[in-house]
Amino acid sequence: MKSGSNNNPIGIFDSGLGGLTVLKELIRILPSENIIYFGDTARVPYGTKSKNAVRNFSRQITKFLIRHDVKLILVACNTASALALNDIKKIAKKIPVVGVIKSGVRAAVSETVNKKIGIIGTSATIKSESYKSAIKRLGGKIKIIQQPCPLFVPLVEEGWIDSKITEDIAKIYLYPLKKAGCDVVILGCTHYPMIKKIIRQVVGKKIKLIDSAKEVSKDVKKILSNKGLIRMAKSRGNLKFYVSDAPDKFSKLSKIFLGKFISDVKKVDIERY
Ligand code: DGL
Repeated sequence: MKSGSNNNPIGIFDSGLGGLTVLKELIRILPSENIIYFGDTARVPYGTKSKNAVRNFSRQITKFLIRHDVKLILVACNTASALALNDIKKIAKKIPVVGVIKSGVRAAVSETVNKKIGIIGTSATIKSESYKSAIKRLGGKIKIIQQPCPLFVPLVEEGWIDSKITEDIAKIYLYPLKKAGCDVVILGCTHYPMIKKIIRQVVGKKIKLIDSAKEVSKDVKKILSNKGLIRMAKSRGNLKFYVSDAPDKFSKLSKIFLGKFISDVKKVDIERY
């Protein structure tokens, strides 16, 4: 397959399963695209790791995706988008690279009325201040309240999506955002759309929740369309799944994140790249 041609796959990666929430949106908006998904299940979570570690992992995965002739790389992981986007772009050269941060920020800046935006994410994402800098670049004078929510990822991975414990923890995490009077909150982590119902209950109806998965999928469509790279076939695209460890566990949990069971998941020795 010629590199850059319409039938080449979109490459999407995440630290693990969470990126399936982004994939779900991508499939909804671009059903005919061939897609390769890589989940770094051997090294998840990224949100508690150092910047150097996340940069190194992201570089390896980018090389893996390039080997598969991807026509675009979507960095579904917020932590990798926050810490390693430039490294990924350097390796990808002419292949367009899209991270989740810019898309979420653009939506948040256009939605806020009182100019107070809250950001929730992993500890590494919040510490990087990537969301904060992107908001400042795009939105000018906006009050930004950041809140790491490290317990949300393991709670979602355990399937505690509707549980009282998750709600109690959400109340503690989200209190500073409510107190500051934010009218928009960015869900800056792949896992948070899974507990959107609880987050909504805790923050109330008036706060607008920005789901980066939706925003970034629209951007991917726009970029492919501008470059004439949309796959024109009427048939549904082919989906391929790769992980760095425990493909069976990935299969089992895929139903929760993607809404359907993925049976064919291949294990890759990602350290080779
Ligand atoms: N995928 C990560 C993110 O969106 C969450 C899970 C992790 O910490 O690796 O930031």
